[in-house]
Amino acid sequence: MKKRIIAPSLLSADFANLQSACQLIDRSEAEWLHIDVMDGVFVPNISFGFPVMEAIKKHCHKVLDVHLMIVEPEKYVERFRKAGADIITFHYEASKNPEQTIRLIKQSGAQAGITINPDIPVSVLEPYISDVDLVLLMSVFAGYGGQKFIEETYSRLDELNGMKERKQSSCLVEVDGGVNLNNAGQLFARNIDVLVAGSAVFNSPDPLETISKMLKT
Ligand code: DX5
Ligand code: ZN
Repeated sequence: MKKRIIAPSLLSADFANLQSACQLIDRSEAEWLHIDVMDGVFVPNISFGFPVMEAIKKHCHKVLDVHLMIVEPEKYVERFRKAGADIITFHYEASKNPEQTIRLIKQSGAQAGITINPDIPVSVLEPYISDVDLVLLMSVFAGYGGQKFIEETYSRLDELNGMKERKQSSCLVEVDGGVNLNNAGQLFARNIDVLVAGSAVFNSPDPLETISKMLKT
């Protein structure tokens, strides 16, 4: 069976208790920790930046999967890498020169990911799919945790998988937004490598059990 990865999103954790959230994920079967960086410009919300990321890095030893929801992502690549990012994903819509942004991320030593919101055609990814390590398909509009999964994501995933095959890309595919125990199985069945889950993990009575169940659905 294809490898399955869960990336719990720290956005839904208790921000007054990030150390214990990090330690919890460390003990879990999740291989990645998803870190949502929001600037209040590209998205209406503001989350956290470098000092918080550095603190997270000290307490979590999983792959740090950084999702930049910021304008001019290229300006901050180096600093996020220094703060501990293993994977840096930026929004196609937020970058003036996606090709250059991908190059900068790779030069920093991180793996490069590109992402689009649900209203952006999947076809825009075609020029980049052979260069990136990861494509993140948003299944809600970036900005907030706890939103409802947009069902059109399934057909967009089929389109993305077709493109991947055509372009012989070996990038990982990640889905983010509204993922829970009811849809994780269907998503993994559609050739998804990584599922981000924020509220479904951190708002559940037993996050470790929820992660474990998601991997087995
Ligand atoms: C939304 C973020 C997501 C969010 C997911 O802008 O990119 O990573 O935290 O949260 P849930 O899983 O609650 O939809
Ligand atoms: Zn995210």
